Amino acid sequence: MTLLFFHLIIFIFVSLAEASHNTSAGCAIIRPPRDGGIRYRGLTQEQIRNVQVLPVDYEIEYICRANRIIVGPKVRKCLPDGTWTDLSQRSKCLLPCAQVWTSLENGRVMVSPPGPAVEGTVLRYSCLSGFILEGRNTTECTKQGTWDSPKPTCRCECVCVCVCVCVLNVCF
Ligand SMILES: *[C@@H]1O[C@H](CO)[C@@H](O)[C@H](O)[C@H]1NC(C)=O
Ligand SMILES: *[C@@H]1O[C@H](CO)[C@@H](O)[C@H](O)[C@H]1NC(C)=O
Repeated sequence: MTLLFFHLIIFIFVSLAEASHNTSAGCAIIRPPRDGGIRYRGLTQEQIRNVQVLPVDYEIEYICRANRIIVGPKVRKCLPDGTWTDLSQRSKCLLPCAQVWTSLENGRVMVSPPGPAVEGTVLRYSCLSGFILEGRNTTECTKQGTWDSPKPTCRCECVCVCVCVCVLNVCF
């Protein structure tokens, strides 16, 4: 394990040394998403502070602050052409909204876009037949990680049947 670690360090040093002669042999460091950071595997704090270029095939991993979750690529790999994988897709650290909103008793919930409920996620509610929706049929997850309207309910579309019980000519 320790040996592997040292090999990795040496590999990175060699690659960094090469990179200093030819800046296209590796990838320039990129910024982490807002409210997030980057995990550099196999590098010391000192190396992380000074690093400018990372070697081909090196993988960085995004980590989000506190209870935020990553949406978009979590890992990016340095490609031989000096770019990182999936750069067309942004990675964001967002607050999740309460999951209880994403299911509805006696009804259905459409989540868009599909995936974890985070800032910008819209839920559309509908009830099974025989049930009436009470409340709003949509809700949106806000930047603060809260839903913008209360969860609706599906109420049974019941027909009330009254039964009179008579005892000794007195009806109840
Ligand atoms: C630098 O690297 C690129 C691709 O890795 C290569 O095409 C180019 O010839 C190299 N330049 C020098 C000066 O070595
Ligand atoms: C959702 O509610 C709005 C009004 O509150 C209504 O106009 C719309 O048709 C409803 N959508 C569905 C799918 O029931």
